[in-house]
Amino acid sequence: MAISGRIKIAEALKSATGITVTVKGWVRSKRGNKQVAFIALNDGSTIHNIQIVVDFSKISEEQLKPVTTGACLRATGTLVASPAAGQPVEIQADDIEIYGTADVETYPLQKKGHTLEFLREIAHLRPRTNTFGAILRIRHAMAFAIHYYFNEKGFRYIHTPLITASDAEGAGAMFRVTTLDMEQPPKNEQGKTDYTQDFFGRETSLTVSGQLEGELCAMALSEIYTFGPTFRAENSNTPRHLAEFWMIEPEMAFYDIHDNMNLAEDFIKYLVRYALEHCADDLKFLNDMYDKELIERLHSVVQTEFVRLAYTEGVDILLKSGEKFEYPVSWGIDLQSEHERYLVEKHFKKPVILTDYPKQIKAFYMKQNDDGKTVRAMDVLFPKIGEIIGGSQREENYDKLIERIKEDNMSTDTLWWYLDTRRFGSAEHSGFGLGFERLLLFVTGMTNIRDVIPFPRTPKNADF
Ligand code: 4AD
Ligand code: MG
Repeated sequence: MAISGRIKIAEALKSATGITVTVKGWVRSKRGNKQVAFIALNDGSTIHNIQIVVDFSKISEEQLKPVTTGACLRATGTLVASPAAGQPVEIQADDIEIYGTADVETYPLQKKGHTLEFLREIAHLRPRTNTFGAILRIRHAMAFAIHYYFNEKGFRYIHTPLITASDAEGAGAMFRVTTLDMEQPPKNEQGKTDYTQDFFGRETSLTVSGQLEGELCAMALSEIYTFGPTFRAENSNTPRHLAEFWMIEPEMAFYDIHDNMNLAEDFIKYLVRYALEHCADDLKFLNDMYDKELIERLHSVVQTEFVRLAYTEGVDILLKSGEKFEYPVSWGIDLQSEHERYLVEKHFKKPVILTDYPKQIKAFYMKQNDDGKTVRAMDVLFPKIGEIIGGSQREENYDKLIERIKEDNMSTDTLWWYLDTRRFGSAEHSGFGLGFERLLLFVTGMTNIRDVIPFPRTPKNADF
């Protein structure tokens, strides 16, 4: 058994009665009468609490006074069948040791049912709620399943740099990394900041994507994936955007866009199935408390074949829909989430993989189609979320790639190493990026991305 005889509450709840056990955790509630107290204890190993029954003939009422909601303690006693409904066993306490008290006047989580907005203001304490316990366990399970999935398929996990001199998405919304004195930066002859004196001798930023370095490794190891934090300084204060989010980016040599779509669909279905199998208690809690259709929706995605549709056809459907959109639709626009959700939730009623977008609205590295107008992009659009995956087949032709970089007014100075893959042993290849928190929005049924990451980074918010 675990450290100093302690067992996890998840394990205790499944154990046979009659044995002596020690559990440690945080008090969720205490109630009782003159003879006996009932303490609901949780240690985060499961959504369920274990009930500790304290008989005042064994442990005095006085000794139990500091045991209030939020306090941390050890309880040792006999595991017995519980007469109460909804719990198989409880502990008849022989001994209680209080580790840390929580003042009734100041501990913010006294009662249940706080709003998610309020909990965001106490992000340092919200892991102690049922809701965030469930979300954090599901987040862990999904991270584990991602590594499991790719490992089984022979993909290698690559660690790509977080500090970079290139802008992978060409989006230009990056966080600068510098050690220069911001009050008095050194100037060059043109009167501009002299970055040659900066730590790396050049301008650097936090990365928006590990893809470009991922491609380098795919052109050697065939199938790779990255899974790390990415950073975007775009000022989009929406329920689906974070300034710091985690992304999974597989990249595969010898895959065309169809192989890429097949992998994306299989991958997401695997993850949802994994959650249904391994996170049943937590999903049931979230289903009951927040979203009565959650589990049904998860089952339906696993069983449905995703629609595959060209952007041009998608735009036609939107134009003919007769729907009043806030942003008008025309060929060439970057679809807004209202458009994506119309296609997914109203028109097809299932996930949609939209392909072959206009090249102007997509990144420079996507493979150009022969029509000269579109590129071999693929976005996976999900109910309630909109875009969950963005990816493409990559442009493997050196000259065409250079042409696109020039069209986008980007500089080749910081990309020469990327271009080298197209000069030496280039090949057809593809990849995509799954936003980890967007996946978690879907799996947990939460509606605000700030609620599926422990400590969200959003505009004007880096407190915790
Ligand atoms: O579509 P994006 O920008 O694609 C890329 O970064 C490519 N380099 C991926 C690749 O092909 N390897 O981002 C990919 C996904 C989006 O579909 C979305 O799920 C998520 O990342 N995402 C965000 N999630 C939270 N907050 C943000 N600000 C996000 N921006 C993108
Ligand atoms: Mg995208």
